[in-house]
Amino acid sequence: MIGLFRRLLPRQAPVLADATSRDAAPIAALHCASFHRGWSEDEVERLLLDRAVIAHRATCGSRLAGFILSRCAGGEAEILSVAVDPGRRGGGLGRDLLTLHLRRLAGVGIGAIFLEVSENNAPARRLYAKAGFREVGRRPNYYRDAGGTAHALVLRRDLP
Ligand SMILES: CC(C)(COP(=O)(O)OP(=O)(O)OC[C@H]1O[C@@H](n2cnc3c(N)ncnc32)[C@H](O)[C@@H]1OP(=O)(O)O)[C@@H](O)C(=O)NCCC(=O)NCCS
Repeated sequence: MIGLFRRLLPRQAPVLADATSRDAAPIAALHCASFHRGWSEDEVERLLLDRAVIAHRATCGSRLAGFILSRCAGGEAEILSVAVDPGRRGGGLGRDLLTLHLRRLAGVGIGAIFLEVSENNAPARRLYAKAGFREVGRRPNYYRDAGGTAHALVLRRDLP
């Protein structure tokens, strides 16, 4: 019955904001649900408390719908992770989080952004390509899981 009401009600639009250490538990849970090697709550909390890390989250009510995290150093940044709740993927939230994040990185003077993505990760590759990231390197067989190995593509985007 509750599921039926949920389907009939219009979907709440996610709210995007800075993430803080109070978001560590839900971010760790979404990270674990999204990646082969999950991050513990402690690891996420340490990242969120690091002054070199910039983090954004998307929430729907009290529920985390997505996050993105970067570490900055020497005028450059590396996107460490981005994920959207599986039930909300494909609706533009990843793009909205990335757009906000890139704007913030530009605002703090970052000139170049790097990241690594599996060659097999079609949604992420499309997200980054549409945001202007280009391949600048490759780490052969970098990712290993039960399905075998995959190359990591190193992508870069310069900010004006
Ligand atoms: C990658 C991820 C963050 C994208 O979030 P999202 O909210 O689904 O992304 P968007 O809806 O903004 O879509 C971004 C682009 O990817 C495309 N896309 C989304 N799902 C796709 C799929 N299953 N296959 C191919 N392309 C897909 C969209 O069509 C869109 O491109 P378009 O603008 O040309 O239509 C999300 O898929 C995710 O959390 N994946 C698991 C974690 C992960 O792999 N993170 C990236 C690690 S490098």
